[in-house]
Amino acid sequence: SSRDQPYRTAYHFQPPKNWMNDPNGPMIYKGIYHLFYQYNPKGAVWGNIVWAHSTSTDLVNWTPHEPAIFPSQPSDINGCWSGSATILPRDKPVILYTGINPQKQQVQNIAFPKNLSDPYLVEWVKPHTNPLMAPTQNNMINSSSFRDPTTGWLGPDKVWRVVVGSKNQSRGLGILYRSKDFLHWVKAKYPLHSAPGTGMWECPDFFPVSTLAGSRVGLDTSAHGSHVKHVLKVSLDDTKKEYYTIGVYDLVKDIYVPDAGSIEGDSGLRYDYGKFYASKTFFDGYKSRRILWGWINESSSVGDDVKKGWSGVQVTQYVQAVPRAIWLHQSGKQLVQWPIQELETLRTGKVNVPSRLLKGGSRIEVSGVTASQADVEVAFEVPKLGKAQKFDPSWTHKAQDLCTQNVAKTRGGLGPFGIMVLATEGLEEYTAIYFTIFKNHSRYAVLMCSDQSKSSLNNSTDKANYGVFLNVDPTKEKISLRTLVDHSIVESFGGEGKGCITSRVYPILATGGGAHLYAFNNGREDVQISSLSAWSMRKAHVN
Ligand code: FRU
Repeated sequence: SSRDQPYRTAYHFQPPKNWMNDPNGPMIYKGIYHLFYQYNPKGAVWGNIVWAHSTSTDLVNWTPHEPAIFPSQPSDINGCWSGSATILPRDKPVILYTGINPQKQQVQNIAFPKNLSDPYLVEWVKPHTNPLMAPTQNNMINSSSFRDPTTGWLGPDKVWRVVVGSKNQSRGLGILYRSKDFLHWVKAKYPLHSAPGTGMWECPDFFPVSTLAGSRVGLDTSAHGSHVKHVLKVSLDDTKKEYYTIGVYDLVKDIYVPDAGSIEGDSGLRYDYGKFYASKTFFDGYKSRRILWGWINESSSVGDDVKKGWSGVQVTQYVQAVPRAIWLHQSGKQLVQWPIQELETLRTGKVNVPSRLLKGGSRIEVSGVTASQADVEVAFEVPKLGKAQKFDPSWTHKAQDLCTQNVAKTRGGLGPFGIMVLATEGLEEYTAIYFTIFKNHSRYAVLMCSDQSKSSLNNSTDKANYGVFLNVDPTKEKISLRTLVDHSIVESFGGEGKGCITSRVYPILATGGGAHLYAFNNGREDVQISSLSAWSMRKAHVN
């Protein structure tokens, strides 16, 4: 029950029990969505990894199936690690995944559906020709850093390509392989891309995005041409953070060149500035969109502490973030994400707060929603920008530090203003998602923070704060926020999806009916709530 398991989510994807990590091989086949994931059938810690499998018709409600891929041949006898699905011509799905062989080397394998007329694709078979790609004496591949094949893409030359994550010393590599038949793969001389000092690239993802202004349309992974740019995302094993770049895929040289900046470091772009890892996209041709799945990885110490059982019953369970549509922002400089529209079918009991002034130093309660299981949308207007504090240029890549120094309760100039979720009435506990506006010469900088520092009275949980600067102009645009609250998950989309922050929190008092929702403004300047709607969320059927 929710009393025994106050942190179990109601509409975020979780297995019924046991350990889960990366989302694997998401796809749509015959109108059915498939999600596979790294799973331990035997326990709540990482190990014995198989591909667990669930299907859905709406990406919201999920039916579990038996594990689809599990150790069964030498090339995967020590584990079936992450990989991707590709839909081959004539609607034939295949999966490429990493197997751990008897020598504990990482190799790449293929699996085929046993019966293509079963839309649930419950049974998968593997050829004896596995592995299809392996480290050898000659190819210089590091056998403990060679994993997580991407979805394949077909070039105009009718040759398939995939990338496998790797490293050479500390240089992160996206090793490129080519094949005419998806079975015989030849390593290319040059990686698709690489970057010094980034370490092992886990779970690379490489896909095209449409550059047509205002287009949210997703593209098939093999799409190319004049209205297309490419995105390369990597998950960095060293820091457990993901970075992406937008750039040009040179089909002739078969290399990817990012437009600007490096793959990581302070200036790198991220899908999510909180807990979000090992993500993967797929193209949904039924609704012409690209959808992003990501694993909400919390720092291991948190999970361990909670698993150790300070509450006796509770066992931490990992969660997948909600599926998000993803597209190129019209600036061409970043991606935008938004929860898939189907999630809105769970909304119930809408509460509207009429447009009103939120005075500096005040807080209002949004009552009438189930605050522990809610979807909140708010837009602020800042008519007077005069009290904005001066921006220091050295802060440009220090959003997280700023959110750590100036927490929600700090009295600022213009902001902090935003919402408090999973909050107790006396504010003993709350998670605050808020904005602060700084004056930067003739322009403004809008900082978005997710403040977990007061999220729980339990002192052994991770309470790191997260932040990102939003590409929003407060003189012309409203400052908007959508936050999904799901018991222990707080998933926020600022500036209409230009900045995303996901956190995992473990409140003790602010659970169930003890949870409240507030809008607040701790700045000295008043701000206007131009709209605020909140919904209780129904429970989805998840596994
Ligand atoms: C990322 C990862 C992958 C690997 C899998 C193993 O979280 O380490 O690189 O394939 O998890 O479960």
